[in-house]
Amino acid sequence: MTNRTGLIVENATTGYDSADVLYGVSLNAEPGKITCLLGSNGAGKSTLVRLILGLTPARLGRVSFNGRDITRMQTHKVISEGIACIPEGRMVFSKCTVEENLLLGGYGEKDDALLTKRMKTVYDLFPRLAERKQQLAGTMSGGEQAMVSIGRGLMSEPSLLIIDEPSLGLSPLLVKENFKIIKEINERGISILLIEQNVRQTLAIAHYGYVLTQGKVVAAGTAQELLKDETMHAAYFG
Ligand SMILES: Nc1ncnc2c1ncn2[C@@H]1O[C@H](COP(=O)(O)OP(=O)(O)OP(=O)(O)O)[C@@H](O)[C@H]1O
Ligand SMILES: [Mg+2]
Repeated sequence: MTNRTGLIVENATTGYDSADVLYGVSLNAEPGKITCLLGSNGAGKSTLVRLILGLTPARLGRVSFNGRDITRMQTHKVISEGIACIPEGRMVFSKCTVEENLLLGGYGEKDDALLTKRMKTVYDLFPRLAERKQQLAGTMSGGEQAMVSIGRGLMSEPSLLIIDEPSLGLSPLLVKENFKIIKEINERGISILLIEQNVRQTLAIAHYGYVLTQGKVVAAGTAQELLKDETMHAAYFG
């Protein structure tokens, strides 16, 4: 019997218009763990994120979260099941302040005291954001915007956080800082599905991983197994 909790994608096929992009993809992001999805440009990583969130409907297959079928659920319902996503490119609301951006991440919660508590957690994690609550997010540096987007993702107090290529466009120092924070968030009990191209640093913090090539999972296993996996090396390092 396999583990039935967490996020389970089973044999998912989907795509855009007449073309399929994912072909029978299966993946499990277990509770409390960091699971990574590696793959080069165009492999279908963000499409898988869209599929999980209900933005690109599954043509075949099934997605469940903690035992509940979310395959055909509307996106806002998926989010209310406890999944939050930091999309590729981060997408901060540039004309809103840092604080407003955070509040938008918690829009489903009506209890002000809870929102204040969550905001405090985010500010503890990112003291830089606490110093700049009133600054327009669009005027923050790239690294600071990365913090805003992660903070916003945490404001719905998700049990699973999906992060699509957080390292993109950041300096090596900020990438390192980002990975440290992702690990810290996971240590607070939040499961992570981390989409990345940065293989070594990702496998250094991930528990499990999947490698996607041209819409198919070509390798899967623990981080240690993947580091030694020849298919993964072929997929990545030619
Ligand atoms: N809205 C869309 N309409 C049509 N085709 C799309 C759309 N979005 C993505 N695709 C195609 O689907 C394929 C997979 O794209 P996807 O964005 O999932 O890749 P990715 O692995 O996230 O790549 P990257 O690392 O560059 O972000 C690509 O060939 C892309 O052109
Ligand atoms: Mg992508």
